[in-house]
Amino acid sequence: MHTPQQLTLNRRDLMVGTAAYAILAGIPDMARAQTAASTDVPVLVQMALTVNGERRLLELDTRTTLLDALREHLGLTGTKKGCDHGQCGACTVLVDGRRINSCLTLAWMHDGDEVTTIEGLGTPEAMHPMQLAFVEHDGFQCGYCTPGQICSAVAVLEEIKAGIPSHVSADLTGMPEASSREMRERMSGNICRCGAYSNIVEAMTDVARRRA
Ligand code: FES
Ligand code: FES
Repeated sequence: MHTPQQLTLNRRDLMVGTAAYAILAGIPDMARAQTAASTDVPVLVQMALTVNGERRLLELDTRTTLLDALREHLGLTGTKKGCDHGQCGACTVLVDGRRINSCLTLAWMHDGDEVTTIEGLGTPEAMHPMQLAFVEHDGFQCGYCTPGQICSAVAVLEEIKAGIPSHVSADLTGMPEASSREMRERMSGNICRCGAYSNIVEAMTDVARRRA
């Protein structure tokens, strides 16, 4: 015979169990395994990334972000960790040609993807045009945000070239212009505490003009 208190507990347990099952049923197997496991017990996954043109094999805890995989496991420390919460853009890299905040995504979700970091855009001897423009226009001071700014800037010009509109595009069906207004809007996810914004826009404008 159950006491009322026991009945209450059992009903609560049932509800918790049902909710947990519903949540677990909606997420991929690997993530489910991680969720079900104790957070103290790492679940390892083997995966591959093509980073800056080189195929890299990794064995990672499924909780590892792409940012930590790049910095801590592959030694590519050019990509910076600013906030680790998707708020500053310092961790921006290109994945299959599109910019993302690498702190906001788990590495295993990118198994097989192509990743380009600041190290892959150019070298000190052969800089990418955007890297060169940042130097020529003083697009940085301390430089901490700069790898993310440059990766983002490269992707922004590709987005404009591909005709992808932004919130400030006057015509959503036409080709957006590589204007200062467009660039400022599209770069708004990349924060610079040194305030190098106007020089960054000048660098981007220079690259866009040379391409045109
Ligand atoms: Fe990723 Fe700040 S470190 S957005
Ligand atoms: Fe220092 Fe941007 S150059 S934070």
